[in-house]
Amino acid sequence: MMDRPTPPYHLPVLAAEVAALLPVGSRGVVVDATFGGGGHTRTLLAAHPQIRVIGIDRDPDAAGQAAALGGRVTFLAGNFRRLEELLRGVGADEIAAVFFDLGVSSHQLDVGNRGLSYHRGGPLDMRLGEDSALTADEVVNGWDEADLARIIRRYGEDPSAARIAAAIVRARPLHDSADLAGVVAAAVPARVRRRAHPARRTFQAIRIAVNDELGALAEGLEAALRVLSPGGRVAVISYHSLEDRTVKRRLAAGAAGCVCPPDLPVCGCGRVAELRLLTRRPLVPGAEEVAANPRARSARLRAAEKVRP
Ligand SMILES: C[S@@+](CC[C@H](N)C(=O)[O-])C[C@H]1O[C@@H](n2cnc3c(N)ncnc32)[C@H](O)[C@@H]1O
Repeated sequence: MMDRPTPPYHLPVLAAEVAALLPVGSRGVVVDATFGGGGHTRTLLAAHPQIRVIGIDRDPDAAGQAAALGGRVTFLAGNFRRLEELLRGVGADEIAAVFFDLGVSSHQLDVGNRGLSYHRGGPLDMRLGEDSALTADEVVNGWDEADLARIIRRYGEDPSAARIAAAIVRARPLHDSADLAGVVAAAVPARVRRRAHPARRTFQAIRIAVNDELGALAEGLEAALRVLSPGGRVAVISYHSLEDRTVKRRLAAGAAGCVCPPDLPVCGCGRVAELRLLTRRPLVPGAEEVAANPRARSARLRAAEKVRP
C-alpha cells in the first residue's frame, strides 16, 4: 500500500502582505507571537535579512518547527498574553514588530488527538497548550445548558445555538469529538446541514472558550504595544469577527489624537496618538489565495506603527 503524503504543517495566510508591512532594511527583533509551523517567520526572514525572530507558541509541537529554521530564530513556549515575561528571559531590546496570526494551525486540526476537528474522533480536550485550565470535556459535560448556548451563539455565531446546547445536554456524557460532531449535526435544521459542516461553529465556540482566546488577544495586544520600540509595528491576522473587532477598536483608539471640538483654540484634552494606522481597512486574501488555501477565506489583517514611546 502507498503511504499518504504528510500534509504541510500549515500554509501561511497573507504572508507577502505581512512581510511588506516592515520597512525595507528593518533590523532588530520581530516577535512572531503565534509561531505555528513558522510559515510567516520563514517569509519574514527571507524578506528582511537583518532581523531575527523570536517565535512564541503555546503549543509545544511548534518548537520542532522552529528548530529547522536556523540560528536567526529563538523559540519560546508559552502564551502570548505573558509576552513581556517571556521576552524578559531572552534579553530582546529593539523590538521592530510583533505579529499575531490567531486561531489554530492546520496541524492542530489534522492531528485529531486533541479533539479540535469535527472530521475525526479524538478526546474532547481542545487545549492549544497545557496552560489552559479548562478542557472541552468539562465544557461539554459540565456547563449549564444556558452557558453552552451563550458561547455557541457568541463565539460560534450559530443561530441554532439553543437547539444545539439542548441536544448536547441530552446526549451527555460525550467524550469524543466525532460523537459531539454527530450530536450537533443531528440538532441543526436540515437546510443548514447542506452547507458547511454543521458542527464547525460549535467546535470553534468551545475552542475559543477553552483557550480564553479573546482574553488572551486583548492582553497580548496590550503587551505588544508596550514592548514595541518607537517606530515598531504590530500586525494581527484574525479569522473571527469578535477578534477583528477587538483589534480594530484597540488600534483605532491608539491612533486617535486630540478629541477637543475643532473650534477650541488650544487643546484641552491632552490626548496624543500613540499609533499610526497602516491599514485603514483590513487587508484580505485575494480569490487566488482563497482557492489555494480555503482556510484563508475569513482572514483580515490589520496593522499599526507605534509613534510614541
Ligand atoms: C494560525 S496558527 C499560526 C500559523 C503560523 N503563522 C504559520 O505560518 O505556520 C496559530 C498558532 O497560534 C498559537 N496560539 C494561539 N493562541 C495562542 C496564545 N494565546 N499564545 C501563544 N500561541 C497561541 C496556536 O497554537 C497556533 O500554533
